Amino acid sequence: MKYYKSQLGSNRTRMKKTPIDRVDLESILQPETALERRLIQDPEFRRGLGWGIPRFGHPEGEVYKHIREVLDNIDRFDISADEREKLRLITFVHDTFKHLEDKSYPRDWSKHHGVYARRFLERHYDDPVVLRIVELHDEAYYAWRHKHLYHQHWEGTERLRRLLDAMGDDIQLYYLFFKADTQTGDKNQAPLKWFEMVVKDIEVVPSVW
Ligand SMILES: [Fe+2]
Ligand SMILES: [Fe+2]
Repeated sequence: MKYYKSQLGSNRTRMKKTPIDRVDLESILQPETALERRLIQDPEFRRGLGWGIPRFGHPEGEVYKHIREVLDNIDRFDISADEREKLRLITFVHDTFKHLEDKSYPRDWSKHHGVYARRFLERHYDDPVVLRIVELHDEAYYAWRHKHLYHQHWEGTERLRRLLDAMGDDIQLYYLFFKADTQTGDKNQAPLKWFEMVVKDIEVVPSVW
């Protein structure tokens, strides 16, 4: 927490024009609520939106372009206005603090971008389910990765169990976000297919692709 606050503080005092200031985020992301609008005007948030170069999984590069793809996927779901509003907000925030992330080994999960995103959103929004999905949005992928890339079956099972325990009855909303987020860029679809197969409490929806 301390690390995060000092990062934000130092960035704010050193605020200067960056390439993201030349991007018309209003037109691209088309905010629909006062909160979405406030987020894309926040200097620290904008810094995160502009972070990223083309890389495996994310050929689009910057975070704001990934957000656009996820938002488009959400519009293909047959869901309520309330679910849509929540999924959109999760989308805006979930990857926007990757620029603060510490990926050194051994991994400190308290410095994952989902944790930073949750802490940022807590200042603006208090729905516990939305905050939990923001924080845990990559956990389904990590559970799959333990099992199928690292062949650590016990760790994968445990990680999935912890995620399912944390989400409880709200696992469907988590799943919808995971689906919209995974069907982007050139991401591997195997984690999504695995999740749809092993998690019994979700209602699988048609692929957006
Ligand atoms: Fe993420
Ligand atoms: Fe994402």
